[in-house]
Amino acid sequence: MSRSVVVTGGASGIGLATVHRLHREGWHVVAVDRNTDALPEDERITPVLADVTDETQVDAAVEAADRLGDGLGAVVTCAGVVRNAPVTETTLADFRRSLDVNLTGTFLVCRAAARVMLQRGAGGSLVTISSVSGLRGGEQRAGYASSKGGVLALTQVLAGELGPAGIRANCVAPGATDTPLVRVAQPPAVRDAVVASIPLGRYAHTEEIAAVIAFLAGSESTFVTGQTWCVDGGQTAGPGWRLGEKP
Ligand SMILES: NC(=O)c1ccc[n+]([C@@H]2O[C@H](COP(=O)([O-])OP(=O)(O)OC[C@H]3O[C@@H](n4cnc5c(N)ncnc54)[C@H](O)[C@@H]3O)[C@@H](O)[C@H]2O)c1
Repeated sequence: MSRSVVVTGGASGIGLATVHRLHREGWHVVAVDRNTDALPEDERITPVLADVTDETQVDAAVEAADRLGDGLGAVVTCAGVVRNAPVTETTLADFRRSLDVNLTGTFLVCRAAARVMLQRGAGGSLVTISSVSGLRGGEQRAGYASSKGGVLALTQVLAGELGPAGIRANCVAPGATDTPLVRVAQPPAVRDAVVASIPLGRYAHTEEIAAVIAFLAGSESTFVTGQTWCVDGGQTAGPGWRLGEKP
């Protein structure tokens, strides 16, 4: 028997890479997305069509995952949206949508998971997904960065409250990662500027983010909680610009 893990946003990008990684590591993966067409089929991968902003659907997906194998061991909240616009042109609807999916969706999934984990009494791991934008803003990201900053704070609250029950909560803050989300949101000129600000000089592959998520979800990180893991090629550590040629 294996424990189950819920991965939201599991049909694309970082979430899909995480589904593959956790499946390889022996988890029964419940992949939640509002579009499940692209999900692989396997006896240990259960696609669930659900919207993370819908309380009833989230509760049902998490409770169903807890009925599999040895029960729910972890959740990973990858579902997210980004809408770039200058703050003066950001509509209230777009700002609210960012908060709804990225922050409220994370809250609903983690709350549902905490409830079933507390009831089972076997601990667990909550892995939330923020962004370097949640740590230091960025242009045209009022809604997105606000939601991702909220995810950092929420994760710390979860770690503090749930730690005594053996439930850990950690946040992964990816830097620029090559996924459908950024391919739509970032034109080539923006991508070049982003790459120039990353000491490792490229976008992350989704598998590189999934590897850190899997570490935090699993049993190799049992004394790690309440932390933010920047997986950003050094972007937040570097100067943001270069004086001359590459070394
Ligand atoms: N790609 C990057 O450069 C990058 C950087 C930092 C953080 N992130 C974060 O990583 C996460 C994954 O991003 P990605 O680049 O893989 O995006 P992606 O667009 O490839 O995948 C996001 C998935 O979330 C799903 N989704 C969106 N809204 C949903 C909802 N309401 N309910 C259920 N599913 C929903 C989409 O259908 C999609 O499958 C997001 O939270 C994003 O903010 C991405």
